Amino acid sequence: MGRAKLSIIGGGNVGASCAMWAASKELGDIVVIDIPDKEDATKGKMLDLLQCAPIERFDCSITGTADYAATAGSEVVIVTAGLPRKPGMSRDDLIQTNVKIVKSVSEQVAKHAPDAVMIVVSNPLDAMVYTAWKSSGFPTNRILGQAGCLDVARYRAFLSLELGCSVEDIQALLLGGHGDDMVPLPRYTSVHGIPIQQLLPEATITACVDRAKVGGGEIVKLMGTSAYYAPASGSVQMAEAIIKDKKRILPCAAYCDREYGVGGYFVGVPCVLGSGGMEKVIEVELDAAERTLMDESISHVKDLVKIVSTTFPELA
Ligand code: NAI
Ligand code: 2OP
Repeated sequence: MGRAKLSIIGGGNVGASCAMWAASKELGDIVVIDIPDKEDATKGKMLDLLQCAPIERFDCSITGTADYAATAGSEVVIVTAGLPRKPGMSRDDLIQTNVKIVKSVSEQVAKHAPDAVMIVVSNPLDAMVYTAWKSSGFPTNRILGQAGCLDVARYRAFLSLELGCSVEDIQALLLGGHGDDMVPLPRYTSVHGIPIQQLLPEATITACVDRAKVGGGEIVKLMGTSAYYAPASGSVQMAEAIIKDKKRILPCAAYCDREYGVGGYFVGVPCVLGSGGMEKVIEVELDAAERTLMDESISHVKDLVKIVSTTFPELA
């Protein structure tokens, strides 16, 4: 059996970082696609990454190109093409430009890598997952959005700073949209099986949740552009689960119909990821307050989808 293939569309900050994490995990051969104007820059970046192989000890091919034909046979395609936000911008401000980009990218992916699972990263995430679904014609199990893996990683990182314990021992679950819209579930957060409420005061847990919610904005303010190491790490975590058929339970933007009473939208929920892409949505019990937050988050996703489908009627 040959190596798996992972393609990454957009070789900017998030895309190039995805290539780096994927190479370091030896997930398979890597193809990074960018626009023709950036083809040489993308080739150069990937050549640079390839030259780490003898030191980091990974065996795979790494290609930078503008030619989608190179994506043929990909198991997974991560879509990072699109503008990132600048200080003062919300993710939703990117919608007009990024719908056009994600639409054209998804059409190319459908043509050249028709059996892939697509993991969408471009923002505003919940609207872009919908755009990719409509433009590719892929079945819902092969379209996913990355937001939850990042948001939950931020939350776990902040908890570990408070607790002074390993991040590996912190398990947590979040639902809903990306960042500001996420639904925190401290009731489902534990440290080596110990409920978090036994280890930290309520106010500290809330502070960690709140910092995770605006974690993207905190970094935009400091760097002048959006984060990329952790977003790429979350995306590659999902790709690894699919390529290795690990059946990992990860929080992803996934298509929910009856699940959580969503009614046919992509929202952040825990799901099982394996070679079939999104293999199952896991429903957890929510109390009244959590349910209210989830409903608000779903309603924001519906608003974003409405903007996309009214501005771009071909995507309705
Ligand atoms: P970047 O500007 O560094 O890279 C974007 C790349 O996409 C550029 O190299 C650009 O040339 C390329 N691109 C544009 N149109 C393209 C097309 N039609 N085909 C192929 N490539 C194309 O931006 P960065 O920081 O990598 O962010 C990428 C996207 O990811 C942004 O929309 C950002 O908001 C989003 N993002 C999402 C996160 C999440 O958790 N879902 C977290 C961080 C960023
Ligand atoms: C982030 O959360 C901006 O979505 C990007 O870092």
